[in-house]
Amino acid sequence: MGNIETVGVIGAGQMGNGIAHVCALAGFNVLLNDVTQDRIEAALNVIKKNMVRQVSKDTITQQEMDDALARIKSGLPLERLSSADMVIEAATEKEEIKAQIFKDITPYLKDDAMLATNTSSISITRLAAATDRPERFIGVHFMNPVPVMNLVEVIRGLATNQETYDAAAFIVEKLGKTLTNSEDFPGFIVNRILMPMINEAVYTLYEGVGSVDSIDTSMKLGANHPMGPLMLADFIGLDTCLSIMQVLHDGLADTKYRPCPLLVKYVEAGWLGRKTNRGFYDYRGETPIPTR
Ligand SMILES: NC(=O)c1ccc[n+]([C@@H]2O[C@H](COP(=O)([O-])OP(=O)(O)OC[C@H]3O[C@@H](n4cnc5c(N)ncnc54)[C@H](O)[C@@H]3O)[C@@H](O)[C@H]2O)c1
Repeated sequence: MGNIETVGVIGAGQMGNGIAHVCALAGFNVLLNDVTQDRIEAALNVIKKNMVRQVSKDTITQQEMDDALARIKSGLPLERLSSADMVIEAATEKEEIKAQIFKDITPYLKDDAMLATNTSSISITRLAAATDRPERFIGVHFMNPVPVMNLVEVIRGLATNQETYDAAAFIVEKLGKTLTNSEDFPGFIVNRILMPMINEAVYTLYEGVGSVDSIDTSMKLGANHPMGPLMLADFIGLDTCLSIMQVLHDGLADTKYRPCPLLVKYVEAGWLGRKTNRGFYDYRGETPIPTR
């Protein structure tokens, strides 16, 4: 499975920049796209900053960093991704946005190019069915932050062919990450289990059972989690958490997945967590301060 050399990444947010980062370091040519040049520039700066940190920790050499950065090409027009062997979509967790991206990119794709989505929860089969190549479509669910986290969940749609699965497995292996297989159900494995826990933590806050600090401290010390669920929610992005809960609620039709109204309120306020500097914690000072 040596014919994947160039990887396109659409969406240069926290996941897209991480995917571009690890792919470039692993030797793939990377073509990075987003809706504005500013977002692309911001992503390139984050990638560089994170690689500088890796050099300072001796995880990679200066030469490896320079070579990797030189392998990343970016730009706004989607035709810039036309040489990609596999395009990984890592845009906002909204089905209509993702479906539109796949529609828009199709005219520029090579006939044998494959499409992958980093969706956290949306049906791979449904996204695939809206493209011209459902058999060459797959879910590759990276974890955040991508350079640090070792897991990639791989999800086949109903029509995904073996060649596409093998290509995804080849990329995961070349990145040095561990692959798990999940069937195509809402939230797959990780978010089917993780997100209801995070949502329940928000309900616990909403009902006044505990403060932000007591909930996170209880779960860190009481359940041995490295990070409390509310801080983890901020880290993932509260808009992404809400979208995943909505997909679980709609897709599994069970009230136990009802998104907590307080989560909805934070998203409506634009308090999306770390990426907007405010969520269940305020990150604008030196140390995070709980907002409730
Ligand atoms: N945050 C997490 O912990 C996490 C983990 C695994 C998977 N994911 C998934 O990864 C995807 C991206 O999440 P994120 O956390 O990076 O979000 P983010 O908000 O940090 O980034 C999303 C990016 O997509 C861009 N975008 C939106 N519409 C676009 C379009 N039409 N064309 C190109 N770019 C477009 C936005 O400008 C933004 O830069 C989502 O599907 C999410 O569910 C997120």
